[in-house]
Amino acid sequence: MAQPYEPNRPDTSVEEMDADAARAEIERLSGLIADADIAYHSNDAPEIPDADYDAAKRRLKALEHRFPDLITSDSPTGRVGAPASDGFGKVQHAVRMLSLSNAFEDAEITDFDERIRKFLGLSATAPLAYTAEPKIDGLSLSLRYEGGLLVSAATRGDGSVGENVTPNARTIADIPDRIDIDGVVEIRGEVYMSHDDFSALNARGSDSGAKTFANPRNAAAGSLRQLDPTVTASRPLRFFAYTWGELGKPLGSTQMGAIARMSQLGFQTNPLTTICDGPEDMLAQYRKIEATRASLGYDIDGVVYKVDDLKLQDKLGFRSTTPRWAIAHKFPAELAWTVLEAIDIQVGRTGALSPVARLRPVTVGGVVVSNATLHNEDYIAGRSNTGESIRDGRDIRVGDWVQVKRAGDVIPKVVDVDLSRRDASSRPYVFPATCPECGSDAIREAGDAVHRCSGGLICPAQAIERLKHFVSRGAFDIEGFGAKQVELFYNDTDLPIREPSEIFSLARRDAANLPKLRNRDGFGERSVAKLFEAIEARRVIPLARVLFALGIRHLGETGAAILARHYGTWVAFETATTRATVGSGPEWDDLTSIDGVGDVMAASVITAMQQEAERASFDRLVAELEIQAAEKTVVFTGTLEKMTRAAAKARAESLGAKVAGSVSAKTDLVVAGPGAGSKAQAAEKLGIEMIDEDAWLRLIGDA
Ligand code: IVH
Repeated sequence: MAQPYEPNRPDTSVEEMDADAARAEIERLSGLIADADIAYHSNDAPEIPDADYDAAKRRLKALEHRFPDLITSDSPTGRVGAPASDGFGKVQHAVRMLSLSNAFEDAEITDFDERIRKFLGLSATAPLAYTAEPKIDGLSLSLRYEGGLLVSAATRGDGSVGENVTPNARTIADIPDRIDIDGVVEIRGEVYMSHDDFSALNARGSDSGAKTFANPRNAAAGSLRQLDPTVTASRPLRFFAYTWGELGKPLGSTQMGAIARMSQLGFQTNPLTTICDGPEDMLAQYRKIEATRASLGYDIDGVVYKVDDLKLQDKLGFRSTTPRWAIAHKFPAELAWTVLEAIDIQVGRTGALSPVARLRPVTVGGVVVSNATLHNEDYIAGRSNTGESIRDGRDIRVGDWVQVKRAGDVIPKVVDVDLSRRDASSRPYVFPATCPECGSDAIREAGDAVHRCSGGLICPAQAIERLKHFVSRGAFDIEGFGAKQVELFYNDTDLPIREPSEIFSLARRDAANLPKLRNRDGFGERSVAKLFEAIEARRVIPLARVLFALGIRHLGETGAAILARHYGTWVAFETATTRATVGSGPEWDDLTSIDGVGDVMAASVITAMQQEAERASFDRLVAELEIQAAEKTVVFTGTLEKMTRAAAKARAESLGAKVAGSVSAKTDLVVAGPGAGSKAQAAEKLGIEMIDEDAWLRLIGDA
């Protein structure tokens, strides 16, 4: 049984933790979540309450937010859903099942519309229709029909590979066994349970001593994910169709038309789905749906807006895990009042000064919260970044009673203040003009909401955070050189390491450095040799890792992989980003046309590459390395012995490679295990480089 989760105890708040405590806590929470996932998904027998599970996940996310270098590649927060459980067969989705980005405020819906118009080059007044529909709180299911017959039903799983629940899906009355349409048709939607059916099921369960469920969503998930379909058949599940995967022929030319077509084919579609002609209409529809929420008879947790025209959806495409053409507007989160005891400033990897509210601990929706974000100077002062007043201009002061909101996202925020309880002696909060870590000026540039420490790499907080990021798992991942060693070497008087290139020059100057190192605590001759070996092993490194390791703002692991795949080599990347101008020109257009690269990421990459000191430090690093060009297309064939095919694929993709299912002239590399057959022959015929699994692991630096 998983350990019960103890929510944020005041003595272990995320903000107060050091890296070692955080690592231990991340390990504990990851284990707890993994256990809970197995209990819930595989055994259909949840062992901890939903609220505790959510709290554990939220805390893990908060820890990862504060210590990004401690994020593990298999972190439960990085998954879309959970991996397919072993008890079920696996189904590879022909089209990935993605998730939706979330919005919580009305203004985010206007922003969404503006973003879309900008992307499509539409003026503010050009007609642009959206659909609005309830966000059903159940679990998604993909139904594949071939020649009109239901051939498979799969859960989302990790988005790429789901669980085969076909026999179970066949027992659901809302899911037709056959539809009047030829070719391939994948219908996707949500399996859910009504409130009445949920109560009746739980009543039956408690009468007979069987398991009861915490909420209808859990009941629906637990009922669908049964190894015995007769159990599913006894559970009152329902299904709303709202989207699709692979299609032989389009279902329509608009979202609304496609929904009508799915209804015609015999699927239930949500009757509250409407067309809206813009943000105002969308928000009106949101209020309408929110007002019906209590009487609907099933759970919804927000409203989903989608661009109605499917051609425009195609143009807009996807970010790494979410479509650009849709957004989920969630219903408000839970709120609570407490006392603001202090405001602390944290300095991040990119120098941003973040004000953190230290709160008298308060329970918000079942979780004890003792820290919350205050965003930035303007937010504390009661104005938006553009100078308009927020909270009717009420500022926030130490000692105030404040309202805390824990939205569907991770970090709680202070959202309001009660002036009637303000102490007469309180004074407005003055945002520091200098960095609390290095004393450099904290500069707020015009148009930017954030104060940034101007110390750059001389600011120990920034430099250390950057180095920690540099050696972290998805980046250089140097064995024996983690967060602890970063702190140790940074503060060393003999052999300080203040920037990434110095890690490599340390190993190069080994003759001179060895004696100095050898005399240190914990550094015997053998351990120094081992450390140098580990550093040397990373001198040859894939481009995607290097790009991620640079620690450029807004450039995460996925973004780095996308850029590596696009540019192929460091030289190509460097040339393009050095020549580019933010906002226009061929290099800018090329960069922002990449699926998965937005304007913000593009601008940030260009700025970093053109900032003199930063660039000089990149160049010093690159001079130490042998950067491998991103493999374009890889094919795995035969039996892999060190990992599953899915894991191999995910890893290759995370490094910027494209993984194909068959060998063609476009293939760059074939990884062949024992039993490789026709694909290996094809590779030989086409003269494509072929290596075994071990060579592959060495190539990507995982050996
Ligand atoms: S559209 C490309 N529409 O919400 C993504 N999703 O948070 C297409 N969901 O995984 C999803 N109601 O399980 C869509 N009306 C609706 C929905 C809906 C519920 C779920 C779905 C999705 C999750 C994302």
